[in-house]
Amino acid sequence: MSEVAMKPEIRVLETADADTFWKLRLRGLKEDPEAFGASLADSVDATHEEICKRLACTDDSFALGAFNPEPCGMLGFYRRQGERVRHKGSIWGVYVAPEARGTGLARRLMVEAIERAKKMPGLEEVLLTVSTTQGPAMKLYESLGFKEYGHEVKALKQGDLYIDEKAMMLRLHD
Ligand SMILES: CC(C)(COP(=O)(O)OP(=O)(O)OC[C@H]1O[C@@H](n2cnc3c(N)ncnc32)[C@H](O)[C@@H]1OP(=O)(O)O)[C@@H](O)C(=O)NCCC(=O)NCCS
Repeated sequence: MSEVAMKPEIRVLETADADTFWKLRLRGLKEDPEAFGASLADSVDATHEEICKRLACTDDSFALGAFNPEPCGMLGFYRRQGERVRHKGSIWGVYVAPEARGTGLARRLMVEAIERAKKMPGLEEVLLTVSTTQGPAMKLYESLGFKEYGHEVKALKQGDLYIDEKAMMLRLHD
């Protein structure tokens, strides 16, 4: 098989993927705890129904998974609800398993999410937050055109450790 044919497949997650992908999410929360607002303890007891709801694909939300053939990367997207905030959507839970990193997978996931967001009528901005400890993630977002619009000092607290977060935004049609 050629290198190209072995690239992980990326697709929208379905209900049948929920439990497998939640395991990948829990791995990220465990191994890279400083990267996420949620903690492992917050997430480990999520029910199947809660997980399905979180990963559901609707007109306004989706989660993408990368398969190699095992799940090796993911992200989620949701559009804000409410008349005055529906022009904004957020990306959450960007994670690539360590063994799959450095091959352009996160970039592919992000590009796919942005392309999908661009097709949502009236959606203008994609927002995300990134811990300042996550250098590779910040570089990735900057390289895709995200601009910092805020910096929250001590946004996260784990024991005695505080982590700052940057808020970043991509304007979709400028
Ligand atoms: C951040 C993360 C998703 C990147 O995944 P990845 O598949 O290795 O990233 P890619 O191979 O697609 O790289 C895309 C870009 O990210 C940046 N990047 C990735 N790894 C990097 C590294 N080790 N050092 C510096 N920049 C890096 C680069 O800008 C790179 O673009 P380039 O290859 O053109 O230079 C992955 O490291 C990860 O899951 N980290 C832990 C969780 C995390 O930080 N999530 C973000 C939450 S906001």
